[in-house]
Amino acid sequence: MCGIVGYIGPKSVDSVLLVGLTRLEYRGYDSAGIAVLDSGELQVRKEKGKIKDLERLLQAHPVEGNIGIGHTRWATHGEPNRKNAHPHVDTHKRIAVAHNGIIENHFELKQELVREGHVFHSDTDTEVIPHLVEEELKKGMEIEAALFNTIQRLRGRYAFVLLYEKDPSRIFFARDGSPLVYGHGKGESFLASDVPAIVPAALEHYVIENQQWGWVTRDELHLLDYGKQSVGFELKKIEMNVQDLDKGGFDHFMLKEIFEQSGVMRGIINERIAEGGKVVFGEKNNSNEFLSRLSRIIITSAGTSWHAGLVGKAYLERFAKISTEVDLSSEFRYRNPVAEGDTKVLAISQSGETADTIASIYEAKAKFIRVLSFVNNTSSTIARESNSFIDLKAGPEIGVASTKAYTAQLMNLLLYALFLAGVKWILDKDERMRIFDEIRRIPDQIDQILSRADVIRQWAADFRETKDFVFLGRSFNYPTALEGALKLKEVSYIHASGYAGGEFKHGPIALITDEVPVVCITPQGEIYEKMISNIEEVRARKGKIISIHTEGDEKVPGMSDYSFGIPQCSELISPILAVIPLQLLAYYVAVERGCEPDQPRNLAKSVTVE
Ligand code: G6P
Repeated sequence: MCGIVGYIGPKSVDSVLLVGLTRLEYRGYDSAGIAVLDSGELQVRKEKGKIKDLERLLQAHPVEGNIGIGHTRWATHGEPNRKNAHPHVDTHKRIAVAHNGIIENHFELKQELVREGHVFHSDTDTEVIPHLVEEELKKGMEIEAALFNTIQRLRGRYAFVLLYEKDPSRIFFARDGSPLVYGHGKGESFLASDVPAIVPAALEHYVIENQQWGWVTRDELHLLDYGKQSVGFELKKIEMNVQDLDKGGFDHFMLKEIFEQSGVMRGIINERIAEGGKVVFGEKNNSNEFLSRLSRIIITSAGTSWHAGLVGKAYLERFAKISTEVDLSSEFRYRNPVAEGDTKVLAISQSGETADTIASIYEAKAKFIRVLSFVNNTSSTIARESNSFIDLKAGPEIGVASTKAYTAQLMNLLLYALFLAGVKWILDKDERMRIFDEIRRIPDQIDQILSRADVIRQWAADFRETKDFVFLGRSFNYPTALEGALKLKEVSYIHASGYAGGEFKHGPIALITDEVPVVCITPQGEIYEKMISNIEEVRARKGKIISIHTEGDEKVPGMSDYSFGIPQCSELISPILAVIPLQLLAYYVAVERGCEPDQPRNLAKSVTVE
């Protein structure tokens, strides 16, 4: 959370920074600001709210220049107001800093600096950075030494960019814990939290590592480590399609990404299933010998990725016959997991930057457990800190509420379970072929569901004033109930809870009145009759039923107030299909209620604080 960007080059810096910040807005949108060297003078513009609010401020109070830094904020320390917006400056307003992360010892540092006569302007942790640099400069240090000495004093996680009025040809930076990328274009240099902020102008990039710092000029990156030694690096070509970064005619990224799911599934299937039904994971993986011995998997993830992990457990246990636990990343590290036998940790993360998941990877590695991550950003911290990674191949996901990355996670986990089953020789050929036939049908089945999106759009008006929703599912679709409830909460702000159908009678049933819609995920299969019992229980208490059932079901639609059919499929495939109408429900209800689905209040897509 929080996005930072820096630019030095021939273009007008304000517009380059605004484009970059807009592309990083998924990381936070509480406030935004830029600092620019305008005719040699440091100028700061910042505003509460979104980038478009900053843009309005810049129209009224323009700045000009060719070097600057910018920030879009998700508030951690201090209210989301203009005063706390970044960039932050030193007492004499010569140094500006935009920061992503948390400076844990900011309180002590601030007390010390105040005693030295520094005047603070905000309630943020970040502000200590420009003041520390100022203090070092006061002692007669050069800017490089001042920055290095400052870094030595910081505890916590950070990536920051720094502009110094007296040095108009360099942007300084440091990274320890939060992401930072250097981009190089034609006579221009960029620094940013993520690659989308710098395309298409930047042609090559280098992902700055933890404990690296330095500066960029128009033409080059000067990189050092925390031992003050110069570091060599290799620039890599940026492979990113700019079309993936716009809405492509849809009203919102969330809707566009929901509609991209069939294409994403086709891409994964083509890439991962070879002729003859062999599953291929091209990425660096563990030896087959280790994998065939594997006796335990622990999945660690957060939010939507945790729900994917719950489905993944079902796949791994069903096909690969490996005992699997699923932990919330934020809990994993505190339960002191037992490391024994041939265990592997799977870390699942769309962004690859979730701080809790990163912390759990460190915890696993400290116990000598090998970590395989499933990430949608292969240059992310999680990909780099894991022993190996699998690319989810969902393409850039910009809507804050995860949709296509979720179904990509399910598909990759399913294929990975089949891959492990192959390594262990435990799935007979006929069953394999039957499953692959089913998997190959998924993209068309998703297209069928999406072609009927209007059915769900028409329901939305009925739920404009609804206060609570309940979602019920069992077995493979218990996680679908959790995910459906999370999607609705995230984007429409309606309270929603997901429960395992079997637990309904143990408490949640007390919530049911004629004002509470209950979404019942009721595909054909082992749990079908049990879900029918849940529907009856709700009807007996006058609750409204919204059912997601298998097409051709003659019973469930007649028992429901609203019903939507998904194509015939086996129960294990149903979570991939059943979640799509629930994503659409969340989206259309949010729009109906006047909410902004791409940028829900208080949320950020990439949660880089623990
Ligand atoms: C945030 C996002 C969620 C996401 C979760 C985990 O809370 O708002 O949509 O599921 O982080 O993110 P990750 O990138 O690790 O999958």
